[in-house]
Amino acid sequence: MTSSSAEYRIPPGPDAGGFKNGVRFLIGRASFFEGLQKQYGPVFSLKLPTVGTAVVVSTEEHIKAVFTAPNDVLHGGKNPLGEVLGPGSVFSMDEQRHLDERRLLLPAFHGSRLPAYSQLIEDEALRAMSKWEDGKPISTISTFNNITLRVILRAVFGAEGEDLELLEREVPPGTALGQRLVTMAFLRRDLGRFSPGGRFKRYLALYDEVVGRLIEQCMSDPDRAERQDILSLMLAGMEERGMEIDRELIADELLTLLVAGHETTASSLAWSVERLSRNPEVMRRLEDEIVEGGNEYMTAVFNELQRHRTIIHNTGRYAVKPFEFDGWRVPPGTVLIPSAALIHADDGVYSNADEFNPDRFLGVKPGTYTWIPFGGGTRRCLGSAFAQLEMEIVLRTMLTNFELLPTNEKPESESFKGVAYAPKKGGVGTFRRRPQPLVQGDANASAEECPVDHAAEAACPVDHATTV
Ligand code: HEM
Repeated sequence: MTSSSAEYRIPPGPDAGGFKNGVRFLIGRASFFEGLQKQYGPVFSLKLPTVGTAVVVSTEEHIKAVFTAPNDVLHGGKNPLGEVLGPGSVFSMDEQRHLDERRLLLPAFHGSRLPAYSQLIEDEALRAMSKWEDGKPISTISTFNNITLRVILRAVFGAEGEDLELLEREVPPGTALGQRLVTMAFLRRDLGRFSPGGRFKRYLALYDEVVGRLIEQCMSDPDRAERQDILSLMLAGMEERGMEIDRELIADELLTLLVAGHETTASSLAWSVERLSRNPEVMRRLEDEIVEGGNEYMTAVFNELQRHRTIIHNTGRYAVKPFEFDGWRVPPGTVLIPSAALIHADDGVYSNADEFNPDRFLGVKPGTYTWIPFGGGTRRCLGSAFAQLEMEIVLRTMLTNFELLPTNEKPESESFKGVAYAPKKGGVGTFRRRPQPLVQGDANASAEECPVDHAAEAACPVDHATTV
């Protein structure tokens, strides 16, 4: 497809129609885009089903152009996640409404607040790992899914007791069904109680009922001012702004945080087991740092993990006006795709990019437009600092209490799970409980400090002055 007109200049790409490319994408996933990049260069276009014309960008300069475009030129677009999660989800919002919603949510996710959740995360990690059997290979993703689910339900929803149990039981099958509906829009209609649309509606009704209860409990809690959960912070933020407390919109947003933050973090944790068990030297250095104290190597491991095993390959922006960059001019309706998977695998940006080498980030800040596992610009992931804190605490708790045995098995391939790419076998690891924990007392003492580099946050393209 080499379309150009006097008015528009669209990057080159294959002539194939959307259906054919869609099938190639589903079969090849990352390797399909890699092949097109080799053939057409770092910016190429293609037709995709339901998307229309997409333009994939994979250089620092082009990614920056997309992420810093004004928000009345590039929108979040008709995000299928937003369509399933509802109008109160940040994924469904654009322009001023989107900025207002971020302004409401950002303070709760600011790095300085997060250490309040450290103990809760460690408790959940210890609880879930207590079920691990010595010497038996474990597909760790189910443990990590359980930890990240309970952490979100408690830290974000403020759920405890029976409501926590109910949500813990009902949310996983409900979100699994919801994820299928994200990609298969034709199943969304309610055609009776046994249809996928009908079943999903019932999950939503149950969920709304519990969330409604949690909101009531929070509003009438005499100790509300002491509460740390994100629901209570959201409610306080709405009251401060004189906003109406709209329970349905709050429920949509809580579900958004759950969907965006649960499987993603669990998948990344499963990759950490997969990578560490195949890189014992990295594991040994992490263990040394846990004993000696400090966080520098752990942060480098986190950054490298997000680069080397990127769990969300691409983000998208929808052009609502003609969008110009580097001599190209694409028409409204085009979807711009900054590809994290492509730039993270670029040997010109990361030498020997296919090696897992945390040293490349030791004392080095990841580049704002070359390291984009959390996307960028005004739609950058709201929960990145939360995810980093959670991952670091879970990893530290795991290595403090268990020895992860090295393996010579071949690397696990990646498998798309609906939101994120996870290791195909779920990050299999074999563990031996240590007779003595690596450190006595508080293993996460060094995580009590916020892991987020606020100097880097200052360099973030998001205008925090206007978005917080
Ligand atoms: C390793 C874990 C995670 C990864 C890799 C990840 C990645 C991403 C990516 C790539 C985006 C899209 C950004 C863009 O379009 O530029 C995103 C958006 C988002 N993420 Fe995350 N995420 C993670 C964990 C979390 C957590 C723990 C939460 C909250 C509890 C969260 C909440 C969100 C929200 C609310 C958005 C939408 C932001 C907006 O549209 O303004 N994420 N995330």
